[in-house]
Amino acid sequence: MSDGDVIYKTDALIAEDIDQYLEIHQHKSLLRFITCGSVDDGKSTLIGRLLYDSKMIFEDQLAALEADSKRVGTQGQEIDFALLVDGLAAEREQGITIDVAYRFFATEKRKFIVADTPGHEQYTRNMVTGASTADLAVILIDARKGVLTQTRRHSYLAHLIGIRNIVLAVNKMDLVDYSEARFNEIVEDYSAFAKSIGIDSFVAMPISGFKGDNITSLSPNTPWYTGPALIEHLETVPLDNDRLAAAPFRMAVQWVNRPNLDFRGFSGFVNSGTVRPGDVVRVLPSGKTSKVSRIVTLDGDLDQAVAGQSVTICLADEIDCSRGDVITIADSPLEVADQFETTIVWMADEPMLPGRPYWLKTATTTVSATVTDEKYQVNVNTMEHIAGKTLDLNAIGVCNIALDRPVAFAPYAENHDLGGFILIDRMTNTTVGAGIIHYALRRSQNIHWQAVDITREAHAKQKNQKPKLLWFTGLSGAGKSTIANLVEKKLHALGRHSFLLDGDNVRHGLNKDLGFTDADRVENIRRVGEVAKLMTDAGLIVLTAFISPFRAERDMVRRMLPDGEFIEVHIDTPLSEAEKRDVKGLYKKAREGQLKNFTGIDSPYEPPESPEIRIDTTKMSAEEAAELIVGELLK
Ligand code: ADX
Repeated sequence: MSDGDVIYKTDALIAEDIDQYLEIHQHKSLLRFITCGSVDDGKSTLIGRLLYDSKMIFEDQLAALEADSKRVGTQGQEIDFALLVDGLAAEREQGITIDVAYRFFATEKRKFIVADTPGHEQYTRNMVTGASTADLAVILIDARKGVLTQTRRHSYLAHLIGIRNIVLAVNKMDLVDYSEARFNEIVEDYSAFAKSIGIDSFVAMPISGFKGDNITSLSPNTPWYTGPALIEHLETVPLDNDRLAAAPFRMAVQWVNRPNLDFRGFSGFVNSGTVRPGDVVRVLPSGKTSKVSRIVTLDGDLDQAVAGQSVTICLADEIDCSRGDVITIADSPLEVADQFETTIVWMADEPMLPGRPYWLKTATTTVSATVTDEKYQVNVNTMEHIAGKTLDLNAIGVCNIALDRPVAFAPYAENHDLGGFILIDRMTNTTVGAGIIHYALRRSQNIHWQAVDITREAHAKQKNQKPKLLWFTGLSGAGKSTIANLVEKKLHALGRHSFLLDGDNVRHGLNKDLGFTDADRVENIRRVGEVAKLMTDAGLIVLTAFISPFRAERDMVRRMLPDGEFIEVHIDTPLSEAEKRDVKGLYKKAREGQLKNFTGIDSPYEPPESPEIRIDTTKMSAEEAAELIVGELLK
C-alpha cells in the first residue's frame, strides 16, 4: 500500500485497501487494537516503531525518514518514528489527530489493524468509533507524568465499548532511568482507578517507543520486568472472535434471499457460535422454530458455519422470518424486549431530547426509540455521575430507552453486534448517537397489553362518529386556542362528541412540572399526544392547541394514530402579526429579556411542511377559519 499504510476512515478507498492487504496475510489471525494517549505520550512514535520493526516501512520511505530526522535534529543517529506517522497525516498541520486513522502491519504470527484515536475530549465520539471493533487497547502513559485525566478518560471509554484487553504501556522509561520504583508507582495508581471503573485486569509494560525497549523483545535495561514484550503480547492475546465462536449460535438476518419459488434462504453474518444442517433453530422475536436444512455460500454448501462468516441459511419449514429477525439456536435463544437500560454517547451538535423519537438501528433492524429517562451523565474526566435531562455533543449518559416494538438482543458485554446500536435523527437522517444495551428493563417484560372487549371501534360506533385528532400548531398568539374553541362549539352544536386540550390549561395540571426548554416542550407534546390518543380510542374528536414547535414530535403523534386520523392544522400567523397582537403581553416581555426561550424570539418554530389544513389568519377571520375546518373535517 502507498502512503505508509495510513488510511483515513472517511477515505472511500478503505474497504478496497484493507481487502487487498488482508488477502496477502490471509492465513493469519487479525488483531484490531487502538492506541490511546496524546501525541506527547509518544503515541505516534510507538506506532511508527511498530510499523518499522514489523518491516512495514518501504525502503524509499525509510530513506526520507532518515533525512527528515536529521533535519529536525533528532538526537544521535536515531530515527524519529513520530515523523513517520505524523508526517503522513493532516495532523501534522493541525497539531492534533483529526479523525480515526487506521494503520496496518503484520508479523510472522498475526496481522494487525491499529486505530489511532485522537486524545482530546472533543474527539470522544471519534474514539468511540475507532474503538468499537477493537480487541485490545494500548493506554500510553508518559512515565514522567503518570496517570493523567486523559488516561482515565481513555480507559473508561475503552472499557465502556467493551474492550477486554487493556495494555498499560508506561512509555518513555528511558527518561526515568528505567526506574522500577517509578513503574510500580504508576501501576499501583492505575490499578486503583481501573478497579473503580470495573476493569478487572490489565497488562502493564515498561517501554520506550523511542529506544525500542520491550517492543519486540525484552530489554536489558529493565531486567526486573518479566512480562511479555509488546509485540509478543499483541501476537498471543486471545481474540474476541474466538470467544464469540464458542458462544451459542446467533445470526441477524440481513436479507431474505428468494430468487424463485424453489429457494428461500436467510442471509446474514454469523454473530456468534456455530450452526450445522440439522440444528433446531428459533427465529426471534416470533419464537417460531425450525430445522436448518442447508448452509449455502457462493463457494457451495457448508457443513458448518461459525462466527464471522457470511452465509445463507435454509430452513426446513416455511416459517415467517424477515430482515431484522435473529436466528438463534433453539435451546439457548436471545431475550426479546422493548425497553432497556443503555449507555449513550451523543455525537451531534443538537442535544438529545428525552421523549423525542429517533431511529434506533441495531445489527440489522431499525425501530423507533425514545429516551424515557436519563438516569445520569458520566463526567469522563472524573467519572462522577451528574444529573441531567439532555445530552450534549460528546456527553455520555446512562439512559432508559423504549422502542416502538420488541427486538431480540444480547447485552453488549456479550455481543457487540447484537447489543450495540446507533441513533439516527428522523428529520436529517444523520447519526446522532451510539449506544450499548446493558439489560432489558423488567417492566417491559412484565407489562402486557390487556385485551379489552369494548374496542376503539365499539366506542366510536356508539358515538356514531369517526374519531379524529385536530392538531393545531402555530406561534404563541397565532390564534390556535380561539379557533379551536370555535371549532369545538360548532362540533358540539352538530351533536359530535369532542374534547379540547389547550396548552395553557394542560400546563396547569398534567404538565405543571414542565417549562419551556426544548426538552420540556418535547415531553409536553409527548404527554399530550398520549392523552389525545387515549381520547381518540374512546371515540372522541380531539382538538389540541399547543405551539408544538418541533416537527419531530408532531410527526411522532401522527404515527401513533391510524392513517387519516391525525389532521394537522397550521394556524399560520406571521411572527410580526402575532407580536403586534401580543394578547398576553408575552412578546414584549420576551423582547425585554424577561422571558427566556420564547418561541419565535429565542426558541425555534418549525412550520409544518404539508399540513392537512393551513389557515392564514391575515386573510380570514377566526369564524371563517372555524367554518373551513369543520367543513374539511366532516367532508
Ligand atoms: S409548547 O411549545 O410546549 O407546545 P404550549 O403550547 O404548551 O407550548 O404553551 C405555550 C403557551 O405558554 C403560550 O401560549 C404562552 O401563553 C405560554 N408561555 C410561557 N412562556 C413561554 C415561552 N417561553 N415560549 C412560548 N410560550 C410560553
